[in-house]
Amino acid sequence: MKITVSRKAHFNAAHRLYRKDWTMEKNQEVFGKCNNPNFHGHNYDLTVSVTGEVDQETGYVIDTKVLSDLIKLHIEEAFDHKNLNEDVPEFFDLNPTAEHIAFVIWNKLRKVIALDKELEIKLYETPRNFVTYKGN
Ligand code: NI
Repeated sequence: MKITVSRKAHFNAAHRLYRKDWTMEKNQEVFGKCNNPNFHGHNYDLTVSVTGEVDQETGYVIDTKVLSDLIKLHIEEAFDHKNLNEDVPEFFDLNPTAEHIAFVIWNKLRKVIALDKELEIKLYETPRNFVTYKGN
């Protein structure tokens, strides 16, 4: 019996969408307001979902306290109140779009969650815009 356990989390972060190898004009054309050189912020909402077999002894797929601690340690501490472009090494050469942030979060958590469990990341950049990544 496979069950999905989900945990919600939150962080605030600033970013700027642009490519160093493009001119300001091209960046402006593609990224518009998101290319503001002085950065802008988002309240990111994150849902991390772990799917796996229910352990017969504990009745858990994953202990939500363990999952919550992993998200705090590896995601919130790394991203919360940070400038993603300038403070977070993963984005020094990777445009911090919601797509790429979800990809980075998935890769960080994949390393610390048992491989017999499936992992899915849902990242809301605004209440209406969100991306989903499950590693494929
Ligand atoms: Ni933005």
